[in-house]
This record gives sequence, structure tokens and C-alpha cells, in this order.
Amino acid sequence: MKKKILVTGGCGYIGSHTVVSLIENNFEVTIIDDLSNSQEDVIDSIKEITGIKPNFLKCDLKNKDHIDNILKYHKGFEAIIHFAAHKAVGESVQNPLMYYQNNLTGLINLLVCAQKYNINNLIFSSSATVYGNPESLPISEKNKTQRPSSPYGNSKKVAEEIIEDLATASKDFSAISLRYFNPIGAHKSGLIGELPTGIPNNLMPYITQTAIGLREKLMVFGNDYPTKDGTPIRDYIHVEDLADAHVKALSRLLNKSQETNFEIMNLGTGNGFSVLEVIKTFEEVTQQKLNYEITQRRSGDVPKLYADAKLAEEKLNWKAERTLNEMIKSSWIWEQKVRKQL
Ligand code: UD1
Repeated sequence: MKKKILVTGGCGYIGSHTVVSLIENNFEVTIIDDLSNSQEDVIDSIKEITGIKPNFLKCDLKNKDHIDNILKYHKGFEAIIHFAAHKAVGESVQNPLMYYQNNLTGLINLLVCAQKYNINNLIFSSSATVYGNPESLPISEKNKTQRPSSPYGNSKKVAEEIIEDLATASKDFSAISLRYFNPIGAHKSGLIGELPTGIPNNLMPYITQTAIGLREKLMVFGNDYPTKDGTPIRDYIHVEDLADAHVKALSRLLNKSQETNFEIMNLGTGNGFSVLEVIKTFEEVTQQKLNYEITQRRSGDVPKLYADAKLAEEKLNWKAERTLNEMIKSSWIWEQKVRKQL
């Protein structure tokens, strides 16, 4: 019998890649998603990749009765992987209550219902943003967290604290919080990838949209940081590596291999690349000339962020394997497919 897993936000960018990985590892997946920032046809693409169509139920996690109803009629979930959240940093600064309501009320409703129906395993989609501007690098899980500079980031930090409190109160409950560094790339099939609505905030979709002609030029936010070429350094990780890590973390939960019932792990490669290095690699890999201009710093950006990824390697037997070239190549193929140029 396949183990049943509930994936919230499974139509989204990281969620959809994880669903593919779960199906390929023989799990039975049910997705709940409100489709606020994703498309239902992702389900068909997942079927095209894996040969299996995941179950899908449209559900807004702010509606607790709806979650309750779903869990009442769909029994037997062994774990929840919780991706569903708003994630636009700038929008969260403009509208903090919308972010706290969606990301935190959604989490609390989900946990209340999970407790009621005895689903005691949770994987949480967190972010390296909880480290703020780190005092030392590479960043290990032992680094202190800081109040993130945006309500989006803070919603991730508070969510981790809520999950930790529940783990302290209930010994039956187990959770792993995965702190992502900078996920980029797309599935090798070119069938799923990141689909930002409106103008992208993040570097890679902005680069690919500029190269395809959707944006006039990329603005490089500052070249006066204390880094090798003055532009900020990030730890970019292929979304397929990230997806595989979720499957490993899930196995750790289901096999009861945890040392404590709340664990935190960084998911990164451990390597940092500057914005200019990413641009240069993009130009080399795709043979596209990128129109870009150096402009002033973006508020809230830190100079350097890259992971100490040893804990996940040790505890999950997982290591990010795909190179920056592969990340960029797959992002570019995806962009071309979306715009019907491939
Ligand atoms: C951002 C969020 C982080 C979130 C993550 C999700 C901020 C401050 N942080 O991380 O909370 O978890 O996305 O993926 O927004 N850059 C440009 N021009 C652009 C876009 C980006 O130069 O048009 C630069 C940025 O200055 C940064 C790097 O590219 O140095 C990466 O930026 P981005 O992809 O937005 O990720 P983060 O800022 O690291």
C-alpha cells in the first residue's frame, strides 16, 4: 500500500516539483491548493511527467471548516508537506496583515485540523530569510535567527516558532522545518517550473524574462557590497534537488529517525555566486546577451548568504548535486516553453 501524503500548495513552484519526486518515490499524493498563485493545469503536467495524476482539491487554508471537511472524508494521511503561502517580499511590506493572515492563520488552521485527525508528521517550507544578515558564514542551523526585514520573512520565522511550540506540547507530533536558500531552475522535462505572476521579484525569473524580451532590462541592485565583484552573493539551489530533499526528510519522519521531534535543516549547496557571476553564466550557457544595468541597492538585501549544508547531508543522506549551469539551462528552457518559443 502506498503511503498517503497531503501536500498544501502542491501546484506551486517548489510544491509541484516535490509532488513529482513523491510520486516517483511511490507515495500517493493529494494536493490542496487555492490556486491564488498557481494553475490547475500543473496537475496535467505532473501526470505527463510521472504517468500518475495526483488527487487535487481546491482549498483555501484560511477556511478551517473546509480543511476539516477534506480530512473528514479523505482519511489515512501519514504526513503533511506544507508549502502553501504567499511569498512576495515587497507585497508583504505593503500589506502585512494579508501576509500574516494567509501564512499564519493558514498554518494554524492546518495544524488544528491535523491534530484533530491524528496526522502527526509535518514538513514545513521555511526560508534562509530567518537568518537575517548573518554574523558568520557559511550559515549553519546553529546561527541565531534575526527578525527578517519583511512580514513575509517574519511569517516564516513565526511559523517555525508555532510548529516548535506544538512539538514541545505534543510528543506525538513530529516536524522538520526546511530552510531554503535560493531555489531556481525547472524540471528537466520543461513541463513544470516557476511561473511568477506580474513582474518577478527574484533574480532568475527576471533574467529569463528579460532575455526572452518580456522585460527591457535587468536592474542589478548595487555593486558596492563587500563581495568579490561588489554584487551580493547567494546560494542558488536547483528546485529538483530541493524536491528530493523533501522526500528524504519525509522518510526520516516516517521512519521515526529523528533525534528530536522538531528539527531544522538548511537546504542549500554551500556555494555562493554573485549576481554578476549568475549573469555571466547565463550568457555563456544560453548564448544570449543580457541587457542589464547597475542601479542602487534594494532595501533589505544582505551582502552574502550561503549555507552550511552539512546537517542535511548527515541526517538526510542528501546533497545538492546539480550545478549552476544546469539550474540556469533548465530555467531558460522553461521560459522558452512557457512563451512557446521552444
Ligand atoms: C528573496 C527574498 C527572500 C525569499 C526569497 C525567495 C528579499 C530581500 N529576500 O531572496 O526573503 O525567501 O527571495 O526566493 O527579497 N537581484 C537583482 N535584480 C533583480 C532581482 C534580484 O540584482 O531584479 C539581486 C538581489 O539584489 C540579490 C540577488 O539578486 O542579491 C537574489 O535576489 P532574489 O532572487 O530576489 O533572492 P533574495 O533576495 O536572496
